[in-house]
This record gives sequence, structure tokens and C-alpha cells, in this order.
Amino acid sequence: MQHLLMIPGPTNVPARIMNAMSRPIINHRGPEFYELYDSILKGLKYAFQTENDVFALTASGTGGVECAIANIVTRGDRIIVPVNGEFSLRVKTNVERLGGVPIEIPVKWGEAPTAGMIEEALEKEKDVKGLFVVSNETSSGAAIKDLEDMGKISEKHDLIFFVDAISNLGGDPLLVDKWKVDVCVTCSQKCLACPPGLSPISISDNSWKKIEKNGSQSFYFDLPKYKSYLQRKETPNTPCIPLYYALDEGLRMLNEEGLENRIIRHEKCANAFYTALEAIGLELFARKQYRSNTVIAFKNPRGVDAGAMRRMMIEKYGVEIAAGMGAVRETTSRIGSMGIVSAKEVEETVNALEKSLSSLGFKFESGSGVAAARHSLK
Ligand SMILES: Cc1ncc(COP(=O)(O)O)c(C=O)c1O
Repeated sequence: MQHLLMIPGPTNVPARIMNAMSRPIINHRGPEFYELYDSILKGLKYAFQTENDVFALTASGTGGVECAIANIVTRGDRIIVPVNGEFSLRVKTNVERLGGVPIEIPVKWGEAPTAGMIEEALEKEKDVKGLFVVSNETSSGAAIKDLEDMGKISEKHDLIFFVDAISNLGGDPLLVDKWKVDVCVTCSQKCLACPPGLSPISISDNSWKKIEKNGSQSFYFDLPKYKSYLQRKETPNTPCIPLYYALDEGLRMLNEEGLENRIIRHEKCANAFYTALEAIGLELFARKQYRSNTVIAFKNPRGVDAGAMRRMMIEKYGVEIAAGMGAVRETTSRIGSMGIVSAKEVEETVNALEKSLSSLGFKFESGSGVAAARHSLK
């Protein structure tokens, strides 16, 4: 039986990318690597829509976020951090651990921070150094819709604007240069459809000034060191060569498809999921205006054991979706619609969900979800 991974990362990895990893291991201080690294950096600049320096850190997304914070934050720095879910909470904790002072803007789970909230906070707070946001809260399926305005506000107030775009870069518009994002982090295993283990990051000239003045708090994620090695197309430490091959192939696939087309595909699939779930009678978790294009979170149906529902989807239909996270772990489930998703994956997932719900006694018009998805995808 197939195993369709419809969790919010890692996602299904195309054979072309898996095969790329079987190439021979090469010297990371030699001409073949320089060519590979060059190609990855070009691909990443396209994915981030930036002319800024970019790197592919050998780390999962958490490493990328820690790298950003360890290089930007110095002791006592006051950083605005809107918290609307598990991952933004982690950003806040990370800032604290590294000696910063987070100024939390609490936002209801299922909603997302707005530019208005940031402006309001800046009216009250003095001596703020940065604005750190999670563009797509993977824990609740809510995405920030006015990142561009947040970039303008950050520029006006001379803040370092950091965006954790781990679960939506490639699935949502995010124009790093145009939107004045100083530091942006993503990871390999979500919309880029690669295996987990790499965390791409982009750094603006504006943030270099601060980073180079204060130095990095991290030895491994020492960005000035990364920058000095960049001139000779090397990384300071041994990178994970097979994952670099995979990322290079994944970025080539992104280039062939076109970033805009990939974003449109994610949007269409997410809309089809939302329409289908509502047709079945399930309640969506995120408020309509904040709904994510990559993570579809829904409330567990009343009277149904959600764990049994997800298990049945895997065991009988070969489709895996995820439980909720953090504060809504027990009350929600999540579908990851990322990477190589299309009508086929949407229909198979909705079909598995419908059949499992039916078996567990949930009352709805059988087939209504798949029909709604098909109609939406037309
Ligand atoms: C928004 C966000 N930030 C950070 C992370 C952490 O990434 P990783 O699990 O690759 O360390 C995730 C993982 O899902 C995420 O969705």
C-alpha cells in the first residue's frame, strides 16, 4: 500500500530528489562542491526572492531559528514577539535563553498577528531592537497576511525583521527583498519537498551591520564565519553532502515549476481541503481571514475518537495526517498540504478521511467532501 504523508512536514519527497542523494560523497573543499554550492545558493536566492546572502545550514528548522536569534540578539535586546501558537512561543523562549527581552504580543490561537498590533505595541514600547514573527503557525494553521506592512513598520522603526517562514516559504508569497525581511529562515522538508535536515537562511545588509558589530552567540552557527567562507564557496564545517544534492534538485524543480505556479498550486489545494472539510461538516480551526495555504487545522469531530480516525486513515487507506500541537493537541487534527501536492493527494486524503469518519459513526453525506474538493479544484 502507498504511504501518503499528509502531515505538516516532512512531506512526500519525489523520486527525483531521493535519487539525487545516491550520488558519490565529494570533498567539501573542492571544485565539484563549489559548483554544487553555487547552484544551491542561486536556487535559494530565487526561493527567497532576494539578492541578500543566503546559506543552507546543516540543521533542522529549529537550528535555523536558533542561528538567526543567536546572531541577532545580544543581552538585553528588546524584541517584539507575537505569540499565536507553539512555534512563536518557541521563538519567544529562544530569545529569552539568549539573553534577550521578548515583548510578547499575545494572539489567540487560530488567529495571526497584524501590522496594526505591531504599531500599537511600538507606541507603548521604547528601545525595541527587533520584530520576530512566525509567518505560518504550523501548530494552528493560521498565517500572517500582512507581512509586507510589518516589513515597512520594521524599516521605519529601524528594527531587525526576522521571519520564521519554515512552513510556508514556497507555498505563500514571501518576497524577502521587496518586503524588507532582514533575516528569513525556512527548512528543506516542507514546501521545498526535500528530506529534513537543512535550514536555508537569508541575511540582509542591514542585519550584517548588527551581526558583525556584536558577533555571534553561537559557535556552530557563527554567521560572520559563514560569510567569510562564502567567498570561496565553502561552509565553515562539513555540510551534509547528500542533503545538499537533494536541496539542489529540489530547487531545480522549483525553478522548473516557477515559484508563482507553486504558490498558486498550494493555494488551490488548501482551498480544496477547506471546502471539502466544511462540506463534510467539520469545523475549521483557524479564523477564515488567517487560514494557512499549507496547514489545514480542524477541530476533532464530536463523538469521534480522533486518534482512532487518524490511525484508520493510515492503516486502511495509507494516508497519514497529524494530531494537533501544544495547547490544541487533543482537540484538533492537521493536514499538511505542502511540497508536491496536487488534486490527487487532496482527493485521496479527503476520501480516506470521509471513509474513516463514516466507519466511526460520524454523520454526513458520504462523498460530499470529495465532490466539494473536485469542484474547487476545477
Ligand atoms: C513554523 C515552524 N518553525 C519551526 C519549526 C521547527 O522545525 P524542525 O522541526 O525542522 O526543527 C517548525 C516545524 O514544523 C515549524 O513549523
